[in-house]
Amino acid sequence: MYNEIDLDKIDVTLEPPTEEPARQYYFMAKCREWVRVFEQKNGCFPTASIQTFGCQMNAKDSEKIAGIIKKIGFAVIEEESADFVLYNTCTVRDNANQRVYGRLGLMNSMKKKNPNKKVALCGCMMQEPSVIEKIQKSYSFVDLIFGTHNIYKFAELFFTMYQSERMVIDIWKESDKIVEDLPAERKYPFKSGVNIMYGCNNFCSYCIVPYVRGRERSRNPRDIIREIERLVSEGVVEVMLLGQNVNSYGKNLEEPISFAQLLQEVEQIEGLERIRFMTSHPKDLSDDLIEVMKNSKKICRHLHLPLQAGSTRILKAMNRSYTKEQYLALAHKIRQEIPDISLTTDIIVGFPGETAEDVEETIAVVRKVQYDNAFTFIYSKRTGTPAAAMPNPTSDEEIKANFDRLLKVVQETARSRVGRLKGEVHRVLVEEINEHDASLVTGRLSNNTIVHFKGEPSLIGTLVDVKLTEAHGFYYIGEQVALQ
Ligand code: SAH
Ligand code: SF4
Ligand code: F3S
Repeated sequence: MYNEIDLDKIDVTLEPPTEEPARQYYFMAKCREWVRVFEQKNGCFPTASIQTFGCQMNAKDSEKIAGIIKKIGFAVIEEESADFVLYNTCTVRDNANQRVYGRLGLMNSMKKKNPNKKVALCGCMMQEPSVIEKIQKSYSFVDLIFGTHNIYKFAELFFTMYQSERMVIDIWKESDKIVEDLPAERKYPFKSGVNIMYGCNNFCSYCIVPYVRGRERSRNPRDIIREIERLVSEGVVEVMLLGQNVNSYGKNLEEPISFAQLLQEVEQIEGLERIRFMTSHPKDLSDDLIEVMKNSKKICRHLHLPLQAGSTRILKAMNRSYTKEQYLALAHKIRQEIPDISLTTDIIVGFPGETAEDVEETIAVVRKVQYDNAFTFIYSKRTGTPAAAMPNPTSDEEIKANFDRLLKVVQETARSRVGRLKGEVHRVLVEEINEHDASLVTGRLSNNTIVHFKGEPSLIGTLVDVKLTEAHGFYYIGEQVALQ
């Protein structure tokens, strides 16, 4: 197994191998030598802190990087006082970018006090040339920058950084390469994200993701199954299959396979209890998928189905490839086939040209679909996307007012939906000790709703039956039901 590859058996006096992932293990072994010297000199291991912004894809990438860093011998800590700090960035909305610049300001002063400290940046923001220019100009103390396509090369880049006096930059525009079998460090021992595809081909007109994550590439189903089997053997009971549009999974593989077929294969894995996935684009959601979900014992009763807007005119300008009516018909069909499913969504307010009437249409869709939750965002202009060139006559005040009206309805419907299971007994995957009250544990229902109940920390990672005694807006308080 790759996590068990013994770095000490690698001869680092030889030239580095050219094939992957052997090359990366060679550089991990090189770095490990450096760590040993550090340890002898300082009497402790060097520390690393990985700060992650953005979506589940980034969270997964950070776990891959953490796996490599740990393998090298660094202690991974939360605090940004670490010897090595990496920011894994997001650029989907401008506020994500601003937060990174804020943190870099802090790093500048920390580095002045500790010149041996190293600071690195990676992730989606780094795929934008204007960002790289800005960092070179205004944050020249940064030691390493890499992008979304060469994460698998982290060990080599890390080694180069420690050899170099200057900023190391390695950004690839594209990649069709998927490197398997590198170490990964999981945040939770009992659940894990699993990439099934990378990139996006949809080019929604507001969205920067296709530009920073590249073209859609599906992983081979055998590699996915192998990874999940290994995770299960390590104690994982829930997986989240990750892709920007999982419904188009497998279409471009040499031996095409549909997402519904992949799910059926994942379902067969013994010991796996729950399957989740993100994100489903409404335009590609097939009847087969609904059928597979309906008949599955493991696929969770939750579907995240981004609406983005409820006005067909705006949906067209967004290049979403569905109309309001098509979306409503799809939501209706899903609800009919799988009545206990919870639907959640993403909505953008303030897209160029969107009027108060358009937002009323969105609100009407929210009322009709009755989402269990909706993530609402104010449109953020992303340079290089088609929407950035569209005129937007609506004022910021109007957009804010539209946003607030929508949010109110979203919260009302969510509140009325979430409480519907009150009094029933449901299975909960226990995830952690409650943040505010250590006598409680916190877990999730199959439909993703949070439940708090009295319980021991030993329950973490297990599935228990809980009676949902109180409904509180977005969560339940429950009582564990004794095993018969
Ligand atoms: N692939 C997923 C979404 C990934 S981005 C999908 O298609 O559903 C997550 C969410 O961020 C999107 O659903 C959208 O609602 C929001 N988003 C993307 N670009 C945005 C922008 N420029 N401004 C505001 N919100 C945006
Ligand atoms: Fe962005 Fe659209 Fe791709 Fe989602 S499907 S990542 S919103 S371009
Ligand atoms: Fe952000 Fe990149 Fe995800 S831009 S939302 S981290 S794919």
